[in-house]
Amino acid sequence: MSFFADSVNRISPSQTIAMSTKARELKAQGRNIIDLSAGEPDLPTPDNVKSAGIKAITDGKTRYTDVDGIPELKAAVVAKFKRENGLDYKPAQVSIGTGGKQVLFNALSCTLNPGDEVVIPSPCWVSYVDIVRLGGGTPVFAECKFEDGYRLQPQTLDAAITANTKWFVFNAPCNPSGAAYTRAQLKALTEVLMAPKNRHVWVLTDDMYEHLIYDDLAFYTPAQVEPGLYERTLTMNGLSKTYCMTGWRMGYGAGPEPLIKTMCKLQSQSTSNPSSISQWAAVEALNGPQDFIARNAQIFKERRDLVVSMLNQAKGVKCPKPEGAFYVYPSCAGVIGKTSAKGSKIKTDQDFTLALLEEEGVACVHGAAFAMSPYFRLSYAASTAELEEACKRIQRFCGNVR
Ligand SMILES: Cc1ncc(COP(=O)(O)O)c(C=O)c1O
Repeated sequence: MSFFADSVNRISPSQTIAMSTKARELKAQGRNIIDLSAGEPDLPTPDNVKSAGIKAITDGKTRYTDVDGIPELKAAVVAKFKRENGLDYKPAQVSIGTGGKQVLFNALSCTLNPGDEVVIPSPCWVSYVDIVRLGGGTPVFAECKFEDGYRLQPQTLDAAITANTKWFVFNAPCNPSGAAYTRAQLKALTEVLMAPKNRHVWVLTDDMYEHLIYDDLAFYTPAQVEPGLYERTLTMNGLSKTYCMTGWRMGYGAGPEPLIKTMCKLQSQSTSNPSSISQWAAVEALNGPQDFIARNAQIFKERRDLVVSMLNQAKGVKCPKPEGAFYVYPSCAGVIGKTSAKGSKIKTDQDFTLALLEEEGVACVHGAAFAMSPYFRLSYAASTAELEEACKRIQRFCGNVR
């Protein structure tokens, strides 16, 4: 009899975290490492939000709260959905979690039974895959091709859906590809979900990168463009990326009340409430000034333009220009099958990222970690100077492969 549960044997540790850990180890050995593997903004949490967290502590708001969020934060989330997405939710339809990750985890864990399938466009944030497996479900990948700008095509979605499909997970702007959709492109996907044969499929939309969208592209979420989906959609979002609050662990979702109630039941028997202090900081973040969001997005847009231009000058690398998030997902197909300057054979995208880290001190994450090869993800949540230097090193590495 195995000591460890079968469920945990079905999952793997996060490969993104594995790469960041390796980069940190090399740094500790004194190597000059530029770490572009992490998925978090390098910009600070706004001062008014920090102050609200401090005030919560001094005011003694340091006790257990309602399991899935204080009424003040639920009200702020309801107002946010109305203001920014034109969606009407009641507080009882809102769930607050310890990061968006917990909201996703709760929703999938509450609904998946063995045999249930979850359609996940790939490349994808890999936690979806492992959370589905942990819950006993089966991930089904719907490939988003390089030549389509990594956007999911309606016919690919339709072909991935079977009678066993329980959820369709949608994430745009996407981690890792940065792909985002026009209203018309999103509408074409929602039409697939409205087809009579697909009406059993629920939508889990991960809108985490909503405000990191560039070139005047407007953000839309599925239940907004197709109100017919409202009754089978969980609209998930969080404060980690938009408000630069990764460490505060604040995420939320809204959807039909029976789902939200069941998620609350699960949370009551696992973590209970998210941090009371973070919840009060989140109230301020959502209700307070929002003008810094556009300023941050402009900073990321300029970095994106720099990185795309420099990576396209690296031999064997092709980098499409993503519409959002803070990642690029270039192809490294032109380097596969070659040998690096220091003699490493590059057979896979993992060999590529490992040799790049060893030989040039640049940490990126290989595409296989996001279920699509041969590519790599580079996060441009770093200073312009670091990005310029990293891209120069990538150009040198690729120029020297034989
Ligand atoms: C696409 C996506 N969804 C969800 C999350 C989870 O964010 P958090 O748990 O910090 O709210 C992340 C974080 O990297 C992400 O990239």
